Amino acid sequence: MTTDSTKSDAELWDERYRESHRIWSGKPNAALVREVEGLAPGRALDLGCGEGADAVWLARGGWQVTATDISRVALDRAAEHAADAGVADRIDWQFHDLGVSFPEGEYDLVSAQFLHSMGDLPREEILRRAAAAVAPGGVLLIVGHAGFPPWKHDHADMELPTTDEVLASLELPAGQWDVLLSEEHERIQNDPDGNPTTRTDNALKVRRR
Ligand SMILES: C[S@@+](CC[C@H](N)C(=O)[O-])C[C@H]1O[C@@H](n2cnc3c(N)ncnc32)[C@H](O)[C@@H]1O
Repeated sequence: MTTDSTKSDAELWDERYRESHRIWSGKPNAALVREVEGLAPGRALDLGCGEGADAVWLARGGWQVTATDISRVALDRAAEHAADAGVADRIDWQFHDLGVSFPEGEYDLVSAQFLHSMGDLPREEILRRAAAAVAPGGVLLIVGHAGFPPWKHDHADMELPTTDEVLASLELPAGQWDVLLSEEHERIQNDPDGNPTTRTDNALKVRRR
């Protein structure tokens, strides 16, 4: 995708979502499932929720979810998905450009899954706000790409930090957080022709004491 600098990020993402009736798999992210399954459900915040598969999975598991995205197209789609799954009452869908505004409240889980953008995303600043929104005893889970897929060539400006770099950028106060997970892992993803390829992602999970 080539980006058009005359368009806002919200317009760019709405266009991206309008390209197809569904652009993601409809399944929750595997790293989210793996890392959250053992947690007691509480209040969860999903940053850049897209079409809502993670939020719906969390709501099904008993979480009360606030899910936010810059695309109203994605949010409408996600809300339909939640209604179909019978969990509409457990998810509050909120429109935010997270570089500008951020959901109120504190959460037992804050999740940022592939919060990357072809637009102008102040990711480090957003992730610091994410950490500030974690309640005592709560968890911040950040999963991102560690490398670009071989079929994508328009990502020149997108930064893909390591988990160490993400951790450093969070500027967590010493003695108040535990690092539960900091890893790179591989995942199979189909390319646009449907052929399976290996992607490398990274995951950082920290808990506020
Ligand atoms: C790569 S997608 C990931 C979607 C979803 N988390 C998933 O894993 O399927 C990135 C998402 O972040 C959203 N996004 C990008 N910039 C944003 C911003 N400034 N504020 C809020 N959401 C944003 C996009 O609309 C998109 O849904």
